[in-house]
Amino acid sequence: MKTRNEICGYPVITARCGKIDPDSIEDYIAAGGYKALEKALNMTSQEVVDEVKASNLRGRGGAGFPTGVKMETILKTDVFPKYLVCNADEGEPGNFKDKYLMENDPHQLIEGMIITAYSMGIEKGYIYIRGEYNKPIIIMSRAIEAAREKGFLGKRILGSDFSFDIEIRSGAGAYICGEEFALIESIEGKAGRPRSKPPYPTVSGIYNKPTLINNVETFSNLPFIIQEGAEKFISIGTPSSSGTKLVSLSGNVNNRGVYEIPFGVTIRDIIYKLGGGIPENRKIRMVQLGGASGPCIPEEMLDIKLDYKEMENKGLTMGAGAVIVIDERYNVLEIVRLIMRFFRHESCGKCTPCREGNRQILRILYRFVSGNASNNDLALLESICNVMCQTSFCGLGQTAPTAVLTTMKYFRDDYLSGMRNLSTNSNIV
Ligand SMILES: Cc1cc2nc3c(=O)[nH]c(=O)nc-3n(C[C@H](O)[C@H](O)[C@H](O)COP(=O)(O)O)c2cc1C
Ligand code: SF4
Repeated sequence: MKTRNEICGYPVITARCGKIDPDSIEDYIAAGGYKALEKALNMTSQEVVDEVKASNLRGRGGAGFPTGVKMETILKTDVFPKYLVCNADEGEPGNFKDKYLMENDPHQLIEGMIITAYSMGIEKGYIYIRGEYNKPIIIMSRAIEAAREKGFLGKRILGSDFSFDIEIRSGAGAYICGEEFALIESIEGKAGRPRSKPPYPTVSGIYNKPTLINNVETFSNLPFIIQEGAEKFISIGTPSSSGTKLVSLSGNVNNRGVYEIPFGVTIRDIIYKLGGGIPENRKIRMVQLGGASGPCIPEEMLDIKLDYKEMENKGLTMGAGAVIVIDERYNVLEIVRLIMRFFRHESCGKCTPCREGNRQILRILYRFVSGNASNNDLALLESICNVMCQTSFCGLGQTAPTAVLTTMKYFRDDYLSGMRNLSTNSNIV
C-alpha cells in the first residue's frame, strides 16, 4: 500500500507553502525564488516559449489547453500592446486551490507572470481576483509592492530592457466573470458578458489587443519549468499529463483541503489515502469531479486516474481539479438540484438555451425529487440538457447540465424512483 508521501511525491508548486512567510519577499528569495526569472532574462523569448512547449504544461483553469501553444501565438503576433491576465476568479463551487496558492506563495505566481510576460514582450498584466477573496487580494497587493521595490516589477527589470507591471482587478462575485471574455469585458469596465469566439483572446482580447489569459496554477508552474527544465517536469506525472495537479478536496471526507499530486493518482487514493476516508466509515454515494460543472460518478468508478487522456477516454473531465465527496446519507437528485440552482442563479441571461434551460431543468428536477415526475420527464430532461450543451453561447451553459446528464447515466434508478413516487431520504432543503 502506498503511503501519503509516496502518493504526493515531488512537490512542484507547493514546496514553499506553509514553510515561508507569504508576506516576506526575503523568505521567497532565500528559498530560491526569482532565480528562474534571472535565468529567463538570459534566454531568448523563443527559448522560454520552447521550454514551456517542451514541458507539455496544460492550462490548469479547466479546459487543459496547452500553455506553450497559446504563448507561441502571442509571441508571433506583431500587434502591440499585448496584455497578460491571470485568472484568479475561482468562482466554481468546490474549487479553492488558487486561493491557497495566492495566500501561501504569492511571489511564485508573480514570478511566473513576469517570465511569461518577458517571453512575449508584454508590459502590462492584470490579476483578476474573485471579489470575495479579501485575504488573497491583500496578500497579492503587498507582494506586488514588494516585488516592485526589489526591481522585479516596473521599469528595466533587474537592469534589463524589459519592463512589466501588474495591476489587481477584482470581480463582484459573478461566476461568469471567470470565463475569459466575460473577464476581459469586466477588466474593460463593462458588465461581465462573454463575447463570441473566434477570434480568441490571443488574437483580440483586452481593448481588442492580443491577450494571454492563464490560471493561477498554470502561471505558478513557470518558475519550476524554467529553473529545473522541461525534462524534469515531464518526468513527473504520466506520459499524457505532465507535472502535478492541485486538488481541492471537499465534502464528506475527513481531511478536506488542497493537495498537490502527480498526475496518475486515482480518485480513490485521493479520497482515502490523502483525505483520510469518510467520517464514521460511511459509504460513498457519489463524487463530483472538477466542480459544479463537472461529472458525477459512482463509487465503482473511483479507480479512475487523474489523467487527461484516461479521463477523456471515459468521457470525463477533471476541470480545475475539485473532488467533491457525497456520502450515502444524501439523495443524489437533491444534490443535483442544488447544483442547478447555482447555475440558474449564475446564468448571465444573454442566450436563451442557458437562461431558460437552467430554469426548466430545475422545475423538472423538483418533480423527480418530490416523486411526481411523469413518464415524459426523463426524455424531456435529457433533451433540454443536450440543447443547452450544443447551443449555449459560452462554456457556462454548455457545461451546466453535466451533473444532470452524468447522474442520469450513472444513477438512473434515482430518477426512476422519482417517477414512481418512491423518493426517500431527503436530507437537504
Ligand atoms: C463559466 C466559466 C467560468 C470559468 N472560471 C474560471 C476561473 O475561475 N479560473 C480559471 O482559471 N478559468 C476559468 N474558466 C476558464 C477560462 O475561460 C480560461 O479557459 C482559463 O482561464 C485559461 O487559463 P488556463 O489555460 O491556464 O487554464 C472559466 C470558464 C467558464 C466557461
Ligand atoms: S451560456 Fe449562459 S452564461 Fe453563457 S452567455 Fe449564455 S446565458 Fe450567459
